[in-house]
Amino acid sequence: MAVAAYDSSMTQLDDSPLLGDAYTNDRRRVFHSWSAQGALDPVVLAGALGSKMWDADGTTWIDFTSQLVNMNLGHQHPRMIEAIKEQAERLCMVAPNFANDQRSEAARLIVEKANLGTDGAPRAGGHFEKVFFTNAGAEAVENAIRLAKAHTGRMKVLSAYRSYHGGTAAAIGLTGEPRRLENEPSIPGLVKFWGPYPYRSAFHADSAEQECERALQHLRDTVVFEGASKVAAIILESVVGTNGILVPPDGYLEGVRTLCDEYGIVMICDEVMSGFGRTGQWFAWQKWGAQPDLIAFAKGVNSGYVPVGGVVISADIAATFDERVFPGGLTYSGHPLACATAVASINIFDDEGVNEHARHLGRDVIGWELCEMASRHPSIGEVRGMGVFWAVELVRDRDTREPVDAATTGAVVAECKANGMWPMMAANRIHVVPPCNTPDDVAREGLAILDAALAVADAAVA
Ligand SMILES: Cc1ncc(COP(=O)(O)O)c(C=O)c1O
Repeated sequence: MAVAAYDSSMTQLDDSPLLGDAYTNDRRRVFHSWSAQGALDPVVLAGALGSKMWDADGTTWIDFTSQLVNMNLGHQHPRMIEAIKEQAERLCMVAPNFANDQRSEAARLIVEKANLGTDGAPRAGGHFEKVFFTNAGAEAVENAIRLAKAHTGRMKVLSAYRSYHGGTAAAIGLTGEPRRLENEPSIPGLVKFWGPYPYRSAFHADSAEQECERALQHLRDTVVFEGASKVAAIILESVVGTNGILVPPDGYLEGVRTLCDEYGIVMICDEVMSGFGRTGQWFAWQKWGAQPDLIAFAKGVNSGYVPVGGVVISADIAATFDERVFPGGLTYSGHPLACATAVASINIFDDEGVNEHARHLGRDVIGWELCEMASRHPSIGEVRGMGVFWAVELVRDRDTREPVDAATTGAVVAECKANGMWPMMAANRIHVVPPCNTPDDVAREGLAILDAALAVADAAVA
């Protein structure tokens, strides 16, 4: 079956009697994430289907954000809704100490996918064994480092500048961008390093190969000077998401793996944003093949139809806790409603060829069109990405690579919204991150809106 198996003419119940008061009650009573509350002016969404969403007046946008880069299957997939309904009627809640059919199946499927190789076939030596379920991504990261610390008996954890790992205590401490700053001091033992970013190299490199080599040497130096025997884990986003869609140069993840092996350090890939189809693979690291010890996941595992996340655990680390008590737990670990949607989502991915479609969109539609736009718009410094995970980096000057100001990026975003496409803005970048099953014509429509809106940035930098 092809992707987008549902018909965009499907009607929806967007006649909630609460819609009329939604805005007023939001402004009076809802406290929003990462915001000064006073200036907010949220759009009240009334409904959504596939890659489109609309307000109560019927103004419709192509959702080029997948909400928060999590709705990899798009909005209101009928099989996801059916899975929720069926499970709700069967059994809504089971405490973590019981076993449950949906949880067992979700774990089995996730481990099966984690043990695939770069060619999509079962990997010889695939070492993943178990899944610990959490409520979302930050808790997945918290528990990944908890596992690594308990397994190694060490306490330091290294993470990259230009990263986001979540809003809870350790996850925000690991985060390498400004959202961490007002949350400091964080937990002890967290150390930062620079990852590869050829377009703005921290290493004065002039090629991707040089960037890779120098970034790995810098990471090695950081490990050695922090005391390799004190380092429990290195955590990194396999493809950095919010901080720039930074696809690592070939060889980088393999180099991190080698370093971790040399010093007995746990390698953790944070795949909360990059996992489950975003890059066209189950997990982004599978493109290169060096398998981490732990994988933190959330978002795309079930497109957030019910909140869930988790950690995929290697056999070696899982064995540490055969006799010893794992010092962590959550009331809703492996919630059956969430797990039922994870099972449904993974099966939909297989039945509808969602990963294949994401790769096709990246190669033939989004990547193709963005590269073509880069040749025409002087405000574009670089486009980069893979699958349905792309960034358009806007600059004042292509030679100096000076970023455009927030007002310029904001004006491009406003122009897109006014013309029916909702883009994602991050610093001086527009991130193009629609659902993985967006039909080609809808993706092209959204890209044409972006193309026209970029005239605003071109005029600002002229
Ligand atoms: C790479 C990464 N890790 C962790 C998180 C935190 O996930 P959550 O917001 O579900 O807690 C995010 C969220 O955007 C993320 O992108």
